[in-house]
Amino acid sequence: MIQEGSMIQEGSMATDIAAPVQRTPLVEMRDISIAFGGIKAVDGVTVDLRPGEVVGLLGHNGAGKSTLIKILSGAYRPDSGEIYVNGEKADISMPRDAKKYGIETIYQTLALADNIDAAGNIFLGREVRTPFGTLDDATMEAETRKVMARLNPHFRRFKEPVKALSGGQRQSVAIARAIYFNARVLIMDEPTAALGPAETKQVADLVLQLKKEGIGIFLISHDIHDVFGLADRVSVMKNGKLVGSANVSDVTQDEVLGMIILGKCPPGATPGPGAG
Ligand SMILES: Nc1ncnc2c1ncn2[C@@H]1O[C@H](COP(=O)(O)OP(=O)(O)OP(=O)(O)O)[C@@H](O)[C@H]1O
Ligand SMILES: [Mg+2]
Repeated sequence: MIQEGSMIQEGSMATDIAAPVQRTPLVEMRDISIAFGGIKAVDGVTVDLRPGEVVGLLGHNGAGKSTLIKILSGAYRPDSGEIYVNGEKADISMPRDAKKYGIETIYQTLALADNIDAAGNIFLGREVRTPFGTLDDATMEAETRKVMARLNPHFRRFKEPVKALSGGQRQSVAIARAIYFNARVLIMDEPTAALGPAETKQVADLVLQLKKEGIGIFLISHDIHDVFGLADRVSVMKNGKLVGSANVSDVTQDEVLGMIILGKCPPGATPGPGAG
């Protein structure tokens, strides 16, 4: 049981970090479309994500960001298009499949069980048991301390129900739960929307730590400033279509705003089918 989390041991991670730039994407969503009652929520979108990379997914309300990501997390099945994980075609038709491929999603609500502590949340539904079948609380707490030491060394509130924690601390618990069981790809939907400046900084630090470990992150937001500080690349959607993708260093924030609002693709970006 505990081996499931064995990738949190430094060894395998360290190899990933030291490896030369890896060209095979962790995930590639190719030409994905889905319609709801005639409305094309996602229309021919192609995006990818490499190890240790943060890709910001931007666009106005209703652009299709959450729908695209729900396809990756197995909540929806696309009408057409393909998903590749580590270069191999993946069959993701339910959330369990996505987890099997190491794809974990943290929704805005975090979905934590408020009345139990960090360890209880991390191992919820995947509890470690002793050979006698009882809950192995000592192991779960020790493992929780290990994963938190890595993610958020300042975290001390192991014995308290998570409802007593700050927004940033709760976010740490949600991330720990996601990555403990071998996640390679993390989807974060508006992770800082409800947080103040100090807690937003804490989430930013968490994201940087995950990057170091070679985890790829899709960061969904309609706050361009949020994304510009953290992302390596951005992909912009409008009316279900991909306007384009760019390295953050190749475009200005104003140009990306132009992509979001006008669907106009600047010279530094690679245009998609939605570029006007
Ligand atoms: N389950 C559904 N049934 C019908 N229409 C849907 C469904 N989910 C999404 N849509 C529609 O698909 C389009 C894209 O919605 P989506 O939630 O993906 O946008 P978004 O970019 O995440 O927006 P926001 O920034 O508001 O979260 C919208 O027009 C929305 O109304
Ligand atoms: Mg959304």
